[in-house]
Amino acid sequence: MRVLASAPAKIILFGEHSVVYGKPAIAAAIDLRTYVWAGFNDRGAIKIEAKDIRVPGLTVSFSEDEIYFESDYGKAAEVLSYVRQAIELVREEADANGKGVTVSITSQIPVGAGLGSSAAVAVATIGAVSKLFGLELTNEEIGKLGHKVELLVQGASSGIDPTVSAIGGFIHYEKGDFEHLPFMELPIVVGYTGSSGSTKELVAMVRRTYEEMPEVIEPVLVAMGKIVEKARDVITSDLDEELRFTRLGRLMNLNHGLLDALGVSTKKLSELVYAARVAGAIGAKITGAGGGGCMYALAPENQSEVATAITIAGGTPMITRISREGLRIE
Ligand code: PMV
Repeated sequence: MRVLASAPAKIILFGEHSVVYGKPAIAAAIDLRTYVWAGFNDRGAIKIEAKDIRVPGLTVSFSEDEIYFESDYGKAAEVLSYVRQAIELVREEADANGKGVTVSITSQIPVGAGLGSSAAVAVATIGAVSKLFGLELTNEEIGKLGHKVELLVQGASSGIDPTVSAIGGFIHYEKGDFEHLPFMELPIVVGYTGSSGSTKELVAMVRRTYEEMPEVIEPVLVAMGKIVEKARDVITSDLDEELRFTRLGRLMNLNHGLLDALGVSTKKLSELVYAARVAGAIGAKITGAGGGGCMYALAPENQSEVATAITIAGGTPMITRISREGLRIE
């Protein structure tokens, strides 16, 4: 018996980093997915095959006592630690420690791009392996287990990534609780810098700055939380679409400035953000942890011009759509 599950990538629209400090954030699932096949093996081991994880040229295969990496050891190891932890957690839930599980992963989501690839792979793995063991978990419960995986692997995590990947759509997230926001089509362009940041290291860096000067950083985090609440008001309002986009764009630009102030932007991220704005985007900001990874732009009238400007500035544009669907057993 084999089970196939898939889970989507996400973008954080507003509130990354401040969400780690209990402030609210807004995120949405997007239509890039990770697919995980799960089956039993009779070796009693965890075996993970990931042949097309988008770290250049990577082929990975490892089991409990053997580890083979053909390239990019660091990033591969990071992805695989989420998968391995997810399998171990489900085996515990199913009271089946020591039972051999093999998973095969294929993914459309670039790794380390701030698009939630680790959360998506954790959620899809939990979905597939729990089904394999006959556990009946809701998507919300799987999102919570995904959060546990993140805490075990990276130490600190708000849980927003696995939550939105498991349940899909648009969410407002605060301290582990989420609320679906009304679905709206967002004409966005995601721009990938081509390099990756480590969420773990960036969260730790912001924490060090916070501890060094809480009286400076706390007001920045509070302002980020207020931006999120304003964005929620705009999204749930009955303003016409043009006005909604204009207001969201301004809030994106404000949020980007504050993320830059926290030190999580890079030269390349800023270049893509400004290139998008100059090409006519009404808002552009980092999405995710920063330090590389991705930005996104809101471009209702000129998605293709903005995509071209991102290419010229040295990034890889992706015109994507919001995905209503979260974890799916295929
Ligand atoms: O996984 P990323 O790179 O999209 O970043 C997650 C967002 C952070 O707020 C930086 C961390 C968290 O746990 O919420």
